[in-house]
Amino acid sequence: MSQQHHQPVWVPDEVDIETPSAARMYDYYLGGSHNFAADRELARQAMQAWPDARAFAVANRAFLYRAVKLLAASGIDQFLDLGSGIPTAGNVHEVAFTANPDARTLYVDCDPVAYAHGSTLLSDVPYARFLHADLRDPESVLGNAELTGFLDLRRPVAVLLFLVLPFVPEADDPAGIISAYREASAPGSYIALSHGTGDYRPQTVARIRDVYKHASHSMTLRSKPEIEALLSGYELLEPGVIDTILWRPDRGAAPDPLGGDVARYSMYAAVGRRA
Ligand SMILES: C[S@@+](CC[C@H](N)C(=O)[O-])C[C@H]1O[C@@H](n2cnc3c(N)ncnc32)[C@H](O)[C@@H]1O
Repeated sequence: MSQQHHQPVWVPDEVDIETPSAARMYDYYLGGSHNFAADRELARQAMQAWPDARAFAVANRAFLYRAVKLLAASGIDQFLDLGSGIPTAGNVHEVAFTANPDARTLYVDCDPVAYAHGSTLLSDVPYARFLHADLRDPESVLGNAELTGFLDLRRPVAVLLFLVLPFVPEADDPAGIISAYREASAPGSYIALSHGTGDYRPQTVARIRDVYKHASHSMTLRSKPEIEALLSGYELLEPGVIDTILWRPDRGAAPDPLGGDVARYSMYAAVGRRA
């Protein structure tokens, strides 16, 4: 991006607003206000390659809502939201708290704007905190005083990985990372994840990947068997790894904006339990 953009006053000086951020592009798809000109420019390019990006982001949030509500209602009262993004409508802590008033949520994200905004937003919320960290370094997350002073990993916890693993390439060993979080969590803990895939439209996905090469994070899409492999060690709740809109859809929800065409979403979801 050659064009210089002005730094808004609420943004910490160290934040680079010239490099498009995957977190803030996603915020833009969702209609949020925590994005800058460079983010919007690249997000528009992504939406040219893939006009369904906005519906995709909304469907992911709807899955987050269904999964967190189910887990909180079934007694989980600790949520570790890895790659939580910029707090947006229908946040995990709100959904969890509504279903279970004892529920605590720790958000983790490496994006400085997500952190700046998230920690401000949560400053007077006793049941939620925000940790600025890189999930690819599980020790630095799991051993952080912000976590150990807030969540009790001797009791079941739900580890949430919504649309973040596409930003963890194979070279970073996603299976090893997931297994570190699994091993650190008590029996009866859960994992919930969503993940983009190239299973349906490999050419479209290749174009999106090209766009994201100019963003803060490049993108790795995975096939259904690859996602199933990442979830080894968990017993998957029915219906297993499935297209996100088909994961326990809400009866009575509004008609699907993309006519229920799973290829247009190209996103899988799953929830698993640690035995
Ligand atoms: C597409 S957004 C998803 C946000 C949210 N989980 C959701 O589903 O609505 C991906 C988020 O993951 C964050 N992220 C990417 N890599 C990360 C890493 N290694 N550690 C922590 N956060 C990361 C990005 O900053 C971004 O906020």
